[in-house]
Amino acid sequence: MPESARERVVTGPDDSVSSPEQRAAEMLRDRAGRNSNSPGMNDLRPRRFADYIGQRNVVNSIQIAVEAAKHRGDTLDHALFHGPPGLGKTTISQIIAREMDTTLVHTSGPALERPADVVGILSNQKQGDVLFIDEIHRLSHAVEEYLYSAMEDFRVDFITGTGAFAKTINLPLQKFTLIGSTTRAGMLSPPLRERFALTYHLDYYSDDEITQVVKRSAMILSVPIDNAGAEVIATRSRGTPRIANNLLRRVRDFAQVRGDGTIDAEIAAEALRVEGVDELGLDRLDRLYLETLVRQYSGGPAGINALAASANEEVQTLEDVVEPFLLKIGFILRTPQGRRATAAGMGHVGEDGTRRGQGALLW
Ligand code: ADE
Repeated sequence: MPESARERVVTGPDDSVSSPEQRAAEMLRDRAGRNSNSPGMNDLRPRRFADYIGQRNVVNSIQIAVEAAKHRGDTLDHALFHGPPGLGKTTISQIIAREMDTTLVHTSGPALERPADVVGILSNQKQGDVLFIDEIHRLSHAVEEYLYSAMEDFRVDFITGTGAFAKTINLPLQKFTLIGSTTRAGMLSPPLRERFALTYHLDYYSDDEITQVVKRSAMILSVPIDNAGAEVIATRSRGTPRIANNLLRRVRDFAQVRGDGTIDAEIAAEALRVEGVDELGLDRLDRLYLETLVRQYSGGPAGINALAASANEEVQTLEDVVEPFLLKIGFILRTPQGRRATAAGMGHVGEDGTRRGQGALLW
């Protein structure tokens, strides 16, 4: 059986409805290229721990847990992965299922709208299956409550009928592993968080690690690339493999059309300039955010709702997609009064950091 055939995707009834949260989630995927239809999008993902670059502490710890569970003939404990999008939460979960030689059932918090959705999925889990719930912080409270006994005692209790005909059904489940993935660990309720025996935070990759990812992906895509070319792509990928792979594809296209197909530093820099990605990897949306904060709000403090209205963007998109990396590189601060641009952030959009009145704004 091909390895990819071991993954089942379960979507929910609200898939066509577009809430601000869903649009932000879509945006995360679009921006990082996860919605790309190009063939082999999935082929760049490492399939085994041995091929995985970076996140050493996380991978070492998970590998031990996986090996120990296999040795005991047991299922893996429930695991929670949190951290910014595109860093490998899904990939590591897929590797876990593969290394455990089991099936990964893929669903998401918003897809599990009603208790019946989650009871249906749980009752279909086979012994040892991995149930992967993306955006687990978006589970409704009602659905979440079914997970408590499912995770702890591998059973769900639910009521059928009403009034005098109400009956509690006790449904035993197969022993499975729940893997939760979230960009917002703080939004998980404590009872749910506490039921994960394994909790891991994924952080941004170093430039060196991303350079290795770019070279590995270029080899899989059969794209000739030199060291300097890989480094230019890596340093503009915001420490995120998913972005690196997407930029690599864009640079490959550019090199094939405008060059001889080989990626060197010069062609990579030119391709990314055309794509609107600057030397730090900030794209148009990052710069719009920074310019709005710096020019319209004199560097802040500005509330996120005001910023979103001025930039004509969703709050959720700014919070989940734009701010994490700007915070990490020290361009903005989140203060109780609102968002502030730092001197470095101001400098990046060509302001010297001195405060000006609203009247002096450029737009
Ligand atoms: N492709 C995407 N992420 C990767 C990683 N962490 N290691 C190797 N290849 C990757």
